[in-house]
Amino acid sequence: MRLISDPDDAARALLGGHLAALPTETVYGLGARADLPHAIARVYAAKGRPADHPLIVHIRDVSELGAWASDVPGYAHDLARAHWPGPLTLVLSRTDRAGDFVTGGQDTVAVRVPAHPLMRTVLDRLAGFTGDPAIGIAAPSANRFGRVSPTTAAHVEVELGLLLGADDVILDGGPSAVGVESTIVDCTGDRPVILRPGHVSAADVTAATGLAVGSTSTVRAPGTLASHYAPAARVVLVEAEALLSAEPDDASTGVLALAEVPTPIGLVRLSEPTGVDDYARVLYSALREADALGLTRVLAVPPPPVGVGAAVIDRLERAASGG
Ligand code: TXA
Ligand code: MG
Repeated sequence: MRLISDPDDAARALLGGHLAALPTETVYGLGARADLPHAIARVYAAKGRPADHPLIVHIRDVSELGAWASDVPGYAHDLARAHWPGPLTLVLSRTDRAGDFVTGGQDTVAVRVPAHPLMRTVLDRLAGFTGDPAIGIAAPSANRFGRVSPTTAAHVEVELGLLLGADDVILDGGPSAVGVESTIVDCTGDRPVILRPGHVSAADVTAATGLAVGSTSTVRAPGTLASHYAPAARVVLVEAEALLSAEPDDASTGVLALAEVPTPIGLVRLSEPTGVDDYARVLYSALREADALGLTRVLAVPPPPVGVGAAVIDRLERAASGG
């Protein structure tokens, strides 16, 4: 495995069927060419991910969506126009391009146009090398299955470094700007349904489409239901008042809360985010820090459910439900 900073080298690795951990604005992904079954198989093996958990296909531009998805409803176009490139994934009926090895055998495909400039360059270069403007990079978050997603290249190296091969690469693009995974919207019904909350909120979806967000979906999104995103430390959600009366001198307990919430004496402050966007940005590195410090427990005061706050609460609840 090589740690690199040139997106051309990442595109070359992918071209040759190798894996490239790639920076995106949400979290780092473990990428492979979406048209190479043997490369995709290595992604599943490195992550320890069950084979029926489908991957997100990252494409260069909304103009290539038709190569991957069919029967795209008008509201999905509205969402793509409003939020691509960006932290939004659309689930749509698949075309033949989206093989069973990417979709987990489902008849839908998840597609996203990422915004990180290095990731976009990798996609452009790979399209140039292959002569295929619609080429896709399938990339799940670059963590072991069920664990916390990586938001820096160093996180990826710690988590997957030993599982990658000599020709695989990790492209360093700095810390992820959003910090939690993309919003996934099921676009197979007559209205959008959010399968996984992210930076694009339900209010954003309604603003872009003029439609109320639906609450039932027939689409299966494995990995969004079970407990997930868990560090080794036990995560407990508490209100600010309860935190202040937490046991003092408990040197093995970490605290994660907005900056306005003070740290009780004896507890280890992991981070002091200044608002919901900042909370999303620091969330995963704070949970990793808890493990690095050997803490046994993290008391987390959830942010308000506005904007990406809903996604932070969602991830904290999953982390708290075990792992
Ligand atoms: O922000 C993100 O989305 C990151 C970056 C790397 O793009 N990727 C990411 O991938 O979070 P992953 O594999 O960790 O999570 C993808 C989720 C899984 O829960 C999977 O079940 C769901 O997307 N998914 C993928 N294809 C689907 C499909 N056809 N129908 C329903 N859910 C799907
Ligand atoms: Mg993941």
